[in-house]
Amino acid sequence: MRLTCTVNGTEQQVDDVWEGESLLYVLRERMGLPGSKNACEQGECGSCTVYLDGLPVCACLVAAGQAEGRAIGTVEGLTDGDTGQLHPVQQAFLDAGAVQCGFCTPGLLVATDDLVGRSLAEGRKPADAEIREALAGNLCRCTGYEKILDAVRLAADRMSEAGR
Ligand code: FES
Ligand code: FES
Repeated sequence: MRLTCTVNGTEQQVDDVWEGESLLYVLRERMGLPGSKNACEQGECGSCTVYLDGLPVCACLVAAGQAEGRAIGTVEGLTDGDTGQLHPVQQAFLDAGAVQCGFCTPGLLVATDDLVGRSLAEGRKPADAEIREALAGNLCRCTGYEKILDAVRLAADRMSEAGR
């Protein structure tokens, strides 16, 4: 099948896609977007988290055929495409020391962007319990999570101050 969808704001067309192959495979192997990571390929770890029509999903659980005509946002789309400037969530993870091997990081960045964006849209910053719940599906076996929590708080503080 031919898959047509929008990825990070740009329309993409890919031919010869088997409709049952995963969106994660399409992104990584057919579209040259390796940011989303394949760790478990069964919806357990969150390292493949992307936006699908504005909602975070595990790309390994989305069949390519389900992405037809839809809008996908990947971790690559967080960075400013014109200036290369990191998104505040990306910068906060770096500054807080929340990245070790980095395998979980792309999924955590998307999940954090979603959480902080939703909270700030409601005029508040996420509470610690909300952060823990929102990131419960994103597994990290390096950091012990404390630095990740620091990074989310830091991103929320900075984005709140910047009025994003
Ligand atoms: S690779 Fe998709 S949830 Fe682990
Ligand atoms: S930094 Fe290695 S799995 Fe999270």
